Amino acid sequence: MIPVILKQNMPVTAIFSLLLALNIDQTMTAADPTSAAPKSGSPPSSPVTPGPPERGSYNVTNANDSVCLLAQMGLQLNISYFSNSSGKVVQELLNLDPNQVKSSGSCDPDQATLSLAEDHFNLTFTFSLNSTSNKYHLSGLELFAALPDMSKSFEAVNTTLKFMLGTLGHSYMCQKEKALSVTQEFTLNTFQLQVQPFGVNGDFGAAEECELDEDDMLIPIIVGAALAVLVLIVIMAYLVGRNRSRAGYQTI
Ligand SMILES: *[C@@H]1O[C@H](CO)[C@@H](O)[C@H](O)[C@H]1NC(C)=O
Ligand SMILES: *[C@@H]1O[C@H](CO)[C@@H](O)[C@H](O)[C@H]1NC(C)=O
Ligand SMILES: *[C@@H]1O[C@H](CO)[C@@H](O)[C@H](O)[C@H]1NC(C)=O
Ligand SMILES: *[C@@H]1O[C@H](CO)[C@@H](O)[C@H](O)[C@H]1NC(C)=O
Ligand SMILES: *[C@@H]1O[C@H](CO)[C@@H](O)[C@H](O)[C@H]1NC(C)=O
Ligand SMILES: *[C@@H]1O[C@H](CO)[C@@H](O)[C@H](O)[C@H]1NC(C)=O
Ligand SMILES: *[C@@H]1O[C@H](CO)[C@@H](O)[C@H](O)[C@H]1NC(C)=O
Repeated sequence: MIPVILKQNMPVTAIFSLLLALNIDQTMTAADPTSAAPKSGSPPSSPVTPGPPERGSYNVTNANDSVCLLAQMGLQLNISYFSNSSGKVVQELLNLDPNQVKSSGSCDPDQATLSLAEDHFNLTFTFSLNSTSNKYHLSGLELFAALPDMSKSFEAVNTTLKFMLGTLGHSYMCQKEKALSVTQEFTLNTFQLQVQPFGVNGDFGAAEECELDEDDMLIPIIVGAALAVLVLIVIMAYLVGRNRSRAGYQTI
């Protein structure tokens, strides 16, 4: 009984929903000119998402005028704050514009900083080097922001981070977009990143890639391995076949 009922119902519901869809479509197109007028007055409710940020090149030089920290990256701030105009907490994405950013920084034997400042905010990276293990990492991020729509200035600091783990003399690279969680209110999104905070000798050292990029490498490696195995099988089959035919001639 049940399958019969379902079979009979199916086209009916399909036609019904089709009619419903057509009906909604008609009412929407009909309502469009009238609903457009009140819409223009109210602000858009969903935040506009900017595209990926432009990649910037930032260098820190030491007292000798030689470059001691190299960085190339696109940066996007993801912050949540209390918006004065809408009266509620909003999530906002802000791209750093390399042409507007003023960079500065310092290089010490076991600590290096890079500060990037724009009109309404500044962002500071702190890298630490462990001189016994010769490994470095991004240990701190600090953001000050004073956007026009903020009821009070925004500050997010975390000095116990463990991002961008690299080896002295090498650079750290992450081509893929990566979200670095700093505090509950602030996440830093990085794009096409390559940094070297220590042991810079004119240019970037050999790159150590992040796990995200390594995942990308896995597919070509698997395909390559499969092809190698296939070639090996073909060669073996050929050799075995040749040996057999030789053995055949010998017995004749
Ligand atoms: C930073 O250094 C790199 C390598 O030395 C150089 O190619 C680049 O132009 C420099 N960028 C800036 C902004 O000085
Ligand atoms: C500056 O250069 C001098 C001489 O080349 C060198 O001894 C010194 O270590 C350098 N200082 C830094 C901070 O690189
Ligand atoms: C921004 O951060 C919020 C909360 O951490 C998260 O839900 C959202 O996906 C993030 N957006 C982007 C584009 O990173
Ligand atoms: C960042 O902004 C804060 C607040 O305006 C200011 O006190 C601090 O000196 C700035 N830091 C940099 C590196 O510009
Ligand atoms: C530096 O590395 C050594 C060896 O891996 C480790 O024992 C030590 O705790 C590290 N020091 C810091 C400050 O992390
Ligand atoms: C935020 O809004 C309040 C009233 O809505 C206003 O008094 C105050 O000046 C505004 N603050 C800023 C920074 O715009
Ligand atoms: C700082 O980062 C660490 C590691 O990601 C996290 O466990 C900690 O909660 C963060 N601190 C704050 C104040 O958000």
